[in-house]
Amino acid sequence: MFRPRFDIGAQRIDCGREPDVATHDAADQFASWPLLDYSACEPTEDQAAINRWLAAADLRDRDILHVGTGNSSVARLLAGKVRGIVSVTVAHNEWQHGNALGLPQYSVHLLNKHSDDFARQFEPASFDCILDNNLASFACCQRHLERYFETLVSLLRPEGFILTHWLGMQWTLDVGVDDVEPVWQLDAGKLRAIASAYGLAVERQDELFFLRRARTPNAGTAKP
Ligand SMILES: C[S@@+](CC[C@H](N)C(=O)[O-])C[C@H]1O[C@@H](n2cnc3c(N)ncnc32)[C@H](O)[C@@H]1O
Repeated sequence: MFRPRFDIGAQRIDCGREPDVATHDAADQFASWPLLDYSACEPTEDQAAINRWLAAADLRDRDILHVGTGNSSVARLLAGKVRGIVSVTVAHNEWQHGNALGLPQYSVHLLNKHSDDFARQFEPASFDCILDNNLASFACCQRHLERYFETLVSLLRPEGFILTHWLGMQWTLDVGVDDVEPVWQLDAGKLRAIASAYGLAVERQDELFFLRRARTPNAGTAKP
C-alpha cells in the first residue's frame, strides 16, 4: 500500500491509472491554446529564464536531462557545449521535432515523467543537471508525483542539481477537464516540504530554485 512521504494537503492520493503519454489528451483537446505541444512555440517565460542561467553556466562535461521538451530550446542552446542532453515529453510533435533537429548528443524520448517506463528508462546517477520548469504542474495524484521525485533523485549524480522556476511552480493544468489539484501550485514552503522528503535542500536565487542533496552535518567525520 502507498504511504505518502509528505503532506501538503493533496486530496487525490492515488489516481489509480498508470500515467502514459495520453494522460492529458482530454485536457489538451479541450484547451483552446497550446497545452502540451510547444514544438512550434517560443520557450515560456520561465523556460527562457532557465535558459539565460544555462547560457552563463559552465556545464562542460555535464549530462543534462530536460523534462518538457518544448521547441528543444535547451538542446539548441547547449548542444556541443555539454556531454549530452536527453529530453522527455508527452507531445508527439515535440518528440519528432527534437529528434529531427539532428543535434549532436541529443535525444528526445516520448514518455510520461510520472510513469514506471520513465523510472526505468535511464541508468541511475546519469545526470548532473535536471531541468523542469513545471515540476508539479501536471501531477495526476500524489502517488505518481512521488514516483517522479523518487526517479529524479535516483537519476541525479551526487553533486547534481534539479533546477526549476517560480512561474512554472505556480502554474497547474486548469482548463476544466482533468484539472490538476490546486494544491500542486507550489510556493517555496511546499517545494521545501517535498524536497526534504527526498533528502534534497532547496536554494533560491531570485526566481530560480535549485534542489541538491542535503549535506548531513558531520558527514565524513570519523566517530570517536
Ligand atoms: C507548457 S509546455 C512547456 C515546454 C517548455 N518546457 C517551455 O517551457 O517552453 C509543457 C511541457 O511539458 C511536457 N509535459 C507535460 N506533462 C508531462 C508529463 N507528465 N511527462 C513528460 N512531459 C510532460 C509537455 O509535453 C511540454 O513539453
